[in-house]
Amino acid sequence: MTSYRIALNFEDGVTRFVECGANEKVLDAAFRNRINLPMDCSDGVCGTCKCRAESGTYDLGEDYIEDALTEDEAEQGLVLTCQMIPKSDCVVAVPMSSAACKTGLAKFSGKVSEIVRYSDAAYELALEVPADAPAFLPGQYVNIDVPGGGQHRSYSFSSHSGERRMSFLIKHVPGGLMSTWLAGATLDGSLDMTGPLGSFYLRAVTKPILMLAGGTGLAPFLSMLESLARSGVSQPVHMLYGVTRDQDLVMVERLEEYAQRIPGFTYVTVVADPATAHPQKGYVTDHMLPEVLHDGGVDVYLCGPPPMVDAVQKYFKTAGIEPASFHYEKFTPSQPAAA
Ligand code: FES
Repeated sequence: MTSYRIALNFEDGVTRFVECGANEKVLDAAFRNRINLPMDCSDGVCGTCKCRAESGTYDLGEDYIEDALTEDEAEQGLVLTCQMIPKSDCVVAVPMSSAACKTGLAKFSGKVSEIVRYSDAAYELALEVPADAPAFLPGQYVNIDVPGGGQHRSYSFSSHSGERRMSFLIKHVPGGLMSTWLAGATLDGSLDMTGPLGSFYLRAVTKPILMLAGGTGLAPFLSMLESLARSGVSQPVHMLYGVTRDQDLVMVERLEEYAQRIPGFTYVTVVADPATAHPQKGYVTDHMLPEVLHDGGVDVYLCGPPPMVDAVQKYFKTAGIEPASFHYEKFTPSQPAAA
């Protein structure tokens, strides 16, 4: 029997996935999974269960009243989960915390299966996870407990959800907690994780996309690109990948593969070091040409360090361009990611 996978993304960034039957309402599917979505009447009257459908196709239901969901709200993607019947996999943003809905983060472990070091710039860490490891949305992150330190670090998934091989791109930080552990790690070690988390994830693609990656901020885009390669995409997707030094430019061959697999995907790499011989010098903002901005009719995704996020926001403001949507995640090497 057909069922659809519904990602419930809570206000605190926690995501839970539930299977929803072909004629099942989202609220009922959530309850079956012991997730108490906000509700009162469950009859399409009170509007308490209003959420935002961020992607997917669905039937709004026929039994609700205008006071509970207006035509304008429905056009903007709002739904009543007590009425909504999915017709495809969907992402639903819930305007409450996961704790308030009596659910929470999943904890799971993975066995270290591969560590690739890219000079003094970054590591790619791959973990073999159990078949029932939590699913995630492309772009999200997980908290990884660093063994022995009693602390965690947050890293975006660079792999595709549902695979037994889960991977991450980790900036090398001299003396950093995770970098130090990775330098001595062996392949039989295991790591504990909590997640998935984050509101930086790929939405339904209805417009051209501009991806702005700063350094190891490339990771979530690799997951998004894999998702687009598998689902197909009819809109152009352009990436600007900016780094500080030549050696920070890692995994470009992966981008080249995606350029072959995804029609309409193009990318440009940029190096900031004034001494570089790289063809494109400077910052990503120096290479945001009109043809990739589509007069503002573009969905912008940015993952990079805080100065890059600030510079891009300033760029748009100064240029008088307001993108159709702007999603970003700031990260610093030693702090958890924050959307
Ligand atoms: Fe009242 Fe859905 S719970 S409208």
